[in-house]
Amino acid sequence: MASKGINIEECNGKLGVLVPGLGAVSTTFFAGVFAILKGLAQPVGSLTQMGTIRLGKRTDKNVPAIKDFVPLVRLEDLVFGGWDIFTDNCYRAAMNAGVLDERLLNQVKTELESVKPMKAVFDKNYVKKLNGSNVKSGKTKYDLAMQLIEDCQKFKDENKLDRIIMIWCASTEVYIEPTSTHQNLSNFERGLKNNSPDISPSMIYAYAAISSGIPFANGAPNLTVDIPVLTEFAHDKNIPIAGKDFKTGQTWMKTIVAPGLKARLLGLRGWFSTNILGNRDGEVLDDPDAFKTKEESKLSVLEYILQPEMYPNLYNDITHKVRINYYPPRRDNKEGWDNIDIFGWLGYDMQIKINFLCRDSILAAPIVLDLALFLDLAKRCKMRGIQEWLSFYFKSPMCAPELYPEHDLFIQLMKLKNTLRYIKGEEPITHLGMEYYD
Ligand SMILES: NC(=O)c1ccc[n+]([C@@H]2O[C@H](COP(=O)([O-])OP(=O)(O)OC[C@H]3O[C@@H](n4cnc5c(N)ncnc54)[C@H](O)[C@@H]3O)[C@@H](O)[C@H]2O)c1
Repeated sequence: MASKGINIEECNGKLGVLVPGLGAVSTTFFAGVFAILKGLAQPVGSLTQMGTIRLGKRTDKNVPAIKDFVPLVRLEDLVFGGWDIFTDNCYRAAMNAGVLDERLLNQVKTELESVKPMKAVFDKNYVKKLNGSNVKSGKTKYDLAMQLIEDCQKFKDENKLDRIIMIWCASTEVYIEPTSTHQNLSNFERGLKNNSPDISPSMIYAYAAISSGIPFANGAPNLTVDIPVLTEFAHDKNIPIAGKDFKTGQTWMKTIVAPGLKARLLGLRGWFSTNILGNRDGEVLDDPDAFKTKEESKLSVLEYILQPEMYPNLYNDITHKVRINYYPPRRDNKEGWDNIDIFGWLGYDMQIKINFLCRDSILAAPIVLDLALFLDLAKRCKMRGIQEWLSFYFKSPMCAPELYPEHDLFIQLMKLKNTLRYIKGEEPITHLGMEYYD
């Protein structure tokens, strides 16, 4: 049934995009937007810029562009800022990251140079492989949160912004289990004031964002905003949040292939994924504690998609291994290998091999753009708390505690587009199609 549509606040003025972590992903995103605005490149991979949405019956032939269907901020109205532990401006950081070629970067040099990092909230206990000097000091984690809140306000005032969103694009933090500190606001704020080790820097950013009325998305696998206290805090403050871990290379491929195997009821004996990666992210993930955070995020996907409890004969006994090898010569150009041992009719074995030569940040940048625009839309639609319709973009999608996450890329896309239809009061599309044959 169609909703009546949601009263969407207009998207006047400028939208600030604040990013903790001015590294490969974020500078590729910023440089890309600047290049697109200058007509130097196309926003390939972005649903908000290139995607369409069908409305009504197939015979209606009504398929507008998504950006014409829902009111999204225009790229020229985005203003970028962020924090990093290194003092490099975004031109230098992009050059170091080595994702985009120098010729393209030089064409957007002035714009990139104008984005300079604010001092970060950083603690080496959570990212062991990095050392940087551009770091805030404060007696307590609470003081640091207050400094971030001030940064956000100052950024808004100085750039005359209407609204801000924040997306975590900083390094992956070590693995943390949820504890009582993460259960409610009084425990969490006590933890901030007592410097509890349960509270990582990314949680301090998320707390500062929500306190400031800023929607927050988490592009890394750290818990960050995926803890009861911050999901409830966001809900109570009417702030949309989303996470976690951008779905780019191998896991994206997994969420395409695994639903296909399950759709045809083909069995799986094992899935071995390995890859080589040489960027700073790869270096950070070389630390076993940081890798554990990533591994948890990557492993859960198959289990949820294949539902071994419902199909024990096909999926009960799977060996699933994921390896990431830090290999500097490849920089951001990751190479991934998947070996998939499957079985078919009468249990006969088959194999699938995937060799994906991808570019991590090239796949991640359009995701950051879409999340920025959709989170802002969600805020203007007064949608609050976890935005499950944005699962499409994440390896470990956040969802309500009583649900299991939906990992199937195609269900995720249908959910996203139906949410847009719902917002605008259009019929959701079920693909039933009986009416064509009445
Ligand atoms: N590129 C992808 O395809 C992809 C996919 C999924 C997730 N991610 C995640 O996105 C994040 C960014 O990836 P990247 O390739 O840009 O990494 P990167 O190492 O190039 O950039 C991360 C930046 O964060 C900074 N940083 C670390 N801790 C910080 C803190 N507390 N505050 C502010 N800055 C901090 C680092 O100095 C670095 O410049 C990583 O966590 C990565 O795991 C990336």
